[in-house]
Amino acid sequence: MTKTSVTLLALTCAFTLAACGGNQAEGEHAAGAAQASSSAGLPAGHIEAGMTLASKGGTGIAACASCHGAEGNAPIDGMYPKLGGQYADYIAHSLQAYRGGTRAGGNADIMAAQAKALSDQQIADLAAYFASVPTQLRDLQNAN
Ligand code: HEC
Repeated sequence: MTKTSVTLLALTCAFTLAACGGNQAEGEHAAGAAQASSSAGLPAGHIEAGMTLASKGGTGIAACASCHGAEGNAPIDGMYPKLGGQYADYIAHSLQAYRGGTRAGGNADIMAAQAKALSDQQIADLAAYFASVPTQLRDLQNAN
């Protein structure tokens, strides 16, 4: 697209706001549909907000660190998985599943109780935060 046609498009948009707004919404919808991820539809996550929630907790929400440890990497017991450096999508999906009751039973019930009060924004923030932390997770390469 040439500079002139970009300028023309911008001008056209300025004069036909409603039509352009419609096109934009269509574009966003298409982009959303292209994300097959289970956490599609969550708002953008904010690392800082996630860090505060993880270390201090919030209204009706215990600090994640009280079980998963500092940065999610120092669980107080082997039954608590490490979270630091995990894929944001995986964390978000897990939290949605705990909250929705589809990941339940056994130890998952402990975590389901923690996830009950989380909003979509808080899930996105926590996922962004834990994904940003240096990981101690490993794959099974060289495992016995
Ligand atoms: C009371 C202890 C406790 C607290 C507090 C807690 N968790 Fe958990 N969490 C657990 C347990 C136990 C599991 C393992 C559950 C299972 O087997 O599915 C778990 C599992 C998880 C998993 C799944 C990890 C994986 O590898 O599949 C995520 C994600 C998670 N917790 C996030 C959080 C976040 C975010 C918070 C803070 C809002 C939090 N947890 C607070 C006990 C806790």
